[in-house]
Amino acid sequence: MNLVSRRLARASASLAPVLDFYLNSPYADRGDREICDFTFGNPHEMALEGLVNAIRHRAVPEDRNWYGYRTSDEESVAFLAERLGRDLGLPFEPVDIVLTAGAFAAISIAIHLVTDPGDEAIFFEPAWFCYEPMLNAANVVSRKVALKPGSFDLDLAAIEAAITSKTRLVIVNTPHNPTGRIYDADALRELADMLDRASARTGRRIFLLSDEPYRRLRFDNRDFTSPASVYPWTLISYSYGKILLAPGQRLGYLAASPLMPAADREPLRGAFVPAAMTLGWCFPSALMQYTIPTWKTFRSTWTR
Ligand SMILES: Cc1ncc(COP(=O)(O)O)c(C=O)c1O
Repeated sequence: MNLVSRRLARASASLAPVLDFYLNSPYADRGDREICDFTFGNPHEMALEGLVNAIRHRAVPEDRNWYGYRTSDEESVAFLAERLGRDLGLPFEPVDIVLTAGAFAAISIAIHLVTDPGDEAIFFEPAWFCYEPMLNAANVVSRKVALKPGSFDLDLAAIEAAITSKTRLVIVNTPHNPTGRIYDADALRELADMLDRASARTGRRIFLLSDEPYRRLRFDNRDFTSPASVYPWTLISYSYGKILLAPGQRLGYLAASPLMPAADREPLRGAFVPAAMTLGWCFPSALMQYTIPTWKTFRSTWTR
């Protein structure tokens, strides 16, 4: 008899193909072979000097609480609110952001924050491998909608057809893993209008989770529009793992769009810290939190 809970058995089953490839395929022995391993997106280059310097610099305790429990370090969150505000052109307040152990933890908090067991979440295929397992772990039903073949554009008609009275969350990943597709402002506005109409129709607000860990990895001067600037009921998950070539250091955040009406935004952001705690202390380590404001000091070598 399998004593594992049904929701975690489902989560494990949906993760099995990736884990099987990771652990048992001919590529499983990564060793010294010249393999660019994109299974989990590990770095293929040495860690950035700026990050290493920041960690060294902040590792020395400055008071006796230095390595104490740290939820979301005030200075770091204030720094981020300002930076994110500038990047996305949105007036973030520090309380709109909770620091997380990478995008994984941010996504998990977002799912638990707005869904109840039995709710449905829509995401687009091909998709990052962990949306479905994480939704399963939260007892949320996955509704998968194919991106348009070839262009990987959002298929609005198919998304609309997948919406039911139980739909609570739509996950958009831009720039998109695995295709690299970046959704432009017009496509996102059309999606936003449709979600607004669908929310009115079903009588239930549909939230959008904008999973943006590749936001700063763009080439050819491509623009980026965050869904948070076109659809007020958007939560952003972000990870520094990609840009800093350091996914194992687990640093990211969840942020609520400042455009969200105050009556909706306040309870959500008020639940950020309790959600991160009750889901298993989803905050990054104290040390990684302290490295964030040092970005100013180590700017030249922090990112390229
Ligand atoms: C689309 C997407 N979302 C979220 C994550 C999780 O990022 P992290 O491991 O930095 O939490 C990844 C990692 O590969 C990803 O590709």
